[in-house]
Amino acid sequence: MLITNTLSERSQEFLEKEEMYGAHNYHPLPVVLSKGSGVFVWDVDDKRYYDFLSGYSAVNQGHCHPRIINVLIEQAQRLTLTSRAFHSDLMGEYCEFITRYFGYDKVLPMNTGVEAVETALKLARKWAYEVKGVAGNKAKIIVCENNFHGRTLNVISFSTDPSAKRNFGPFMPGYEVIPFNDTVALEKALRADENIAAFLVEPIQGEAGVMVPDEGYLSKVAALCKEHNVLFIADEIQTGLARTGKMLACDHEDVRPDILILGKALSGGTMPISAVLADDEIMLTIKPGEHGSTYGGNPLACRVAIESLKVLKEEKMAENAALQGEYLRKKLADLNHPHIGIIRGKGLLNAIVIDHPNKESAWDLCVKMKDLGLLAKPTHGDKIRFAPPLLITSEQIDECVDIIYQSLQSIF
Ligand SMILES: Cc1ncc(COP(=O)(O)O)c(C=O)c1O
Repeated sequence: MLITNTLSERSQEFLEKEEMYGAHNYHPLPVVLSKGSGVFVWDVDDKRYYDFLSGYSAVNQGHCHPRIINVLIEQAQRLTLTSRAFHSDLMGEYCEFITRYFGYDKVLPMNTGVEAVETALKLARKWAYEVKGVAGNKAKIIVCENNFHGRTLNVISFSTDPSAKRNFGPFMPGYEVIPFNDTVALEKALRADENIAAFLVEPIQGEAGVMVPDEGYLSKVAALCKEHNVLFIADEIQTGLARTGKMLACDHEDVRPDILILGKALSGGTMPISAVLADDEIMLTIKPGEHGSTYGGNPLACRVAIESLKVLKEEKMAENAALQGEYLRKKLADLNHPHIGIIRGKGLLNAIVIDHPNKESAWDLCVKMKDLGLLAKPTHGDKIRFAPPLLITSEQIDECVDIIYQSLQSIF
């Protein structure tokens, strides 16, 4: 492993404290951040970096977006939490705003992404028993190989990543795994079993390394689900909210999922806010007392989510993501570098695959890029995601590709 020699004593102290007292459930890059603005973050020694991860796509609107921070502060000084035991003067406004924004009858607000995934799965089972007529405890949900939908026991039950599951069993039954980007397999699975409630899919598999399915995949999925009376659930937690060059990745194929899951950038990176959207036939199967969350739909989250969504549209972030994403992929392709095996992505959700026998190459490259002022993180060994905030400019991309090139030259 390449040892960076640029870590200051001060950074080292922060790092050691975290290592000593925090659980070791992540393997972060050795950089200690203390400030952010737009596409940039600064470390404790005031060194500036381009953020090419954007908090795993939670910071689409850019770090500390002034409009989002303003409403956050204003609302925090007024009312932050009522719980759902009482109404708030923002809950109705938020529900109306987000359902109109995405075109669904109802929203169920949660906090983290995985909670929203859990909510969608519970909704799908309820719908299967109470609307579709599946026999008790027989409902099945189809998912894809190499999926990533979060870390709860239920959700890792259908993960195919051994490191997500090792020694966490026993697991939840009721899931069937099929290959991603394979409508033949989906059709076969749908034909084979009448108890299928839903098909859950990421429109682009983010954690798996930005796996973009073939054109037409999502529309075929939607058609097959409709034909077999099965709910199409799109987990747009990472792909949604302008990241791929449209408001939703499903919009690229004009597809409307039956259940839409959002998270991450719903708060512009300020707090955990997630949401599940669906029409009445599905959403009203859950009755009072059957599901909920203390913080879900809190007034602070309602204000922040409304503003975060307004910023995306009013600042044309989807359009910029489409434009700059294409530019970034072209500039990377122009490098024609022998150790960049693959460049793929949509909008500003991109990845490169490092083609080199040294298994640590992607990590070493990320450390070098950090030293030169750009933060990115490897996923699954040889893949590096390039997903900057959506307000990045072409000039900034030029500078970033230069950093990437210099880093490649320096480590290979
Ligand atoms: C597609 C997808 N679903 C779900 C999640 C889980 O979200 P959270 O970490 O907020 O629980 C993630 C997080 O990366 C994700 O990318």
